[in-house]
Amino acid sequence: RASAFVFDLDGVIVDTAKYHYLAWKKLANELGFEFTKEQNELFKGVSRKRCLEILLDIGGITAAQEQFDRWMVEKNEDYLEYIEKMDASEILPDVPKVVGFLKDRNIPIALGSASKNARPILEKVKLLPSFDAIVDGNDVSKAKPDPEVFLIAAQKLNVAPENCVVFEDAVAGIQAANNADMISIGIGDAQILSEADYNFNDFTEISLAFLESLMSVQA
Ligand code: BG6
Ligand code: MG
Repeated sequence: RASAFVFDLDGVIVDTAKYHYLAWKKLANELGFEFTKEQNELFKGVSRKRCLEILLDIGGITAAQEQFDRWMVEKNEDYLEYIEKMDASEILPDVPKVVGFLKDRNIPIALGSASKNARPILEKVKLLPSFDAIVDGNDVSKAKPDPEVFLIAAQKLNVAPENCVVFEDAVAGIQAANNADMISIGIGDAQILSEADYNFNDFTEISLAFLESLMSVQA
């Protein structure tokens, strides 16, 4: 029986993947190679450090630690310029409907994200006060598909993992939820997210009756 909900951020609450893409592409272009939208798919749910490792692999570039760290900072500074301009209009369709429904019923909700920029983004889109707990890239040592981020979220909400529902758009995120023994809901392509317990293209497809059913039946 579900008694708490955990939301991933990028690709679930906001479509920041496009800003990550532009920032990584700029760096790739500066280094003299292309970075495509298809390649950007591999970056979803993946830590900033791992993303840069993959990017440099794509470009066939090896770098000393110092240079590597400078590129990480540079990419993030470019990304933050996009974040700076965000507002509530960038919240994905019907996310407020679901968040509002859960808040009205006093169901605790947490954020479970790999991003170190999660708080500023939630602030920008005015959703920070809605969350009872925030667990982000600053709080974890093990990346998804490790369940750490979601287990800390459950702990912070004081709810057993098996009573938590996770909304995720990344394969590694669905695996992390499953590894945490939580109910996983894939947001996006059901074929890609086939390991999820339930699948929806986006929140417009999620009915309040469905959420209700998760909370009332033995899920
Ligand atoms: C995840 C994104 O939510 O956060 C990844 O899906 C991103 O694409 C990761 O690399 C880390 O984000 P940030 O904001 O800390 O660079
Ligand atoms: Mg995501």
